[in-house]
Amino acid sequence: MNIKPASTRNVLIDWIPYLKHRALSRKGKDWALQYSQHLRYQQRSMAKSQLSPLEINSATGEPFLRLPAPHQNIIVTPPREGDDEHLFALFRDTNVADWFSSIPAPFSRDQSRAMLDQAKEVADAVLDELHTLEKESPGKKLKVVDGCPVRHLREVQENGTDVFIGYIEENNKRPIGDSTIRWGIAAALASSHQGRGIMTAVVDQLLHSWLIPRMNARLIVVFTWVRNQRSIRVFEKNGFTKIAVIEGRVVQGKERSLTVLEWRMQED
Ligand SMILES: CC(C)(COP(=O)(O)OP(=O)(O)OC[C@H]1O[C@@H](n2cnc3c(N)ncnc32)[C@H](O)[C@@H]1OP(=O)(O)O)[C@@H](O)C(=O)NCCC(=O)NCCS
Repeated sequence: MNIKPASTRNVLIDWIPYLKHRALSRKGKDWALQYSQHLRYQQRSMAKSQLSPLEINSATGEPFLRLPAPHQNIIVTPPREGDDEHLFALFRDTNVADWFSSIPAPFSRDQSRAMLDQAKEVADAVLDELHTLEKESPGKKLKVVDGCPVRHLREVQENGTDVFIGYIEENNKRPIGDSTIRWGIAAALASSHQGRGIMTAVVDQLLHSWLIPRMNARLIVVFTWVRNQRSIRVFEKNGFTKIAVIEGRVVQGKERSLTVLEWRMQED
């Protein structure tokens, strides 16, 4: 995939359609003001897209979310064919897999393939639904959907290619549109990228760019091992509060306690 890291150059490239659109000629107009007008112009046109607020890679057509600075080189994309190899490597790392009760050890290629198929099924269904709606009824109100199409984290390199670094997924078992739906979140980051604030930013971005506005998420509950302070901190920093500790769970022969954290939408 070919996305350049966000940079002044990219901002300028990004600005070209606006320059063309407005044929800027008025002398002495303040650049900051012009850029903020461009952003408003871009937001207005993006608001018409059912994929909003996802951006679209102009080279490949793939939708993505970019993290804000200082993590602007991290993007979240739909799962891609071939990602099963990356999931396999991610969960063969015991520093990652040990924190999941649902990941069998050792993790197999069949399991990584099944994981990718499941992720693609959710992402493809949402993207197909929104693309069809966009095509058949352009300009319609943004539809509430029951999944997040972007879930694989990638670090964009200097040369524009990107490298898989982790995943995040939302899950639930209740009907779409029901504001009492209790969502869950699971996430994992390659050991090489842990402890840099990345997952805190990913959770924040997904929550405010997709789960709340596009999925109408109002209640999210996550479970994490009591010893997983790093994971607990990520959720606490995103406004989750500890509501319970479940003692005495035996997982893969080891007794472990679970922390339950909850996030509720603050209604005005
Ligand atoms: C848990 C995980 C998703 C967190 O992502 P991350 O990008 O490494 O986390 P961040 O860097 O955004 O934040 C980590 C926070 O935990 C804190 N932290 C790290 N180790 C800690 C420890 N031993 N005790 C307390 N806090 C700790 C960090 O200081 C930071 O908080 P701060 O910003 O207030 O200083 C990632 O480390 C991971 O994938 N781990 C392995 C798999 C896993 O545990 N998944 C979650 C299963 S529920």
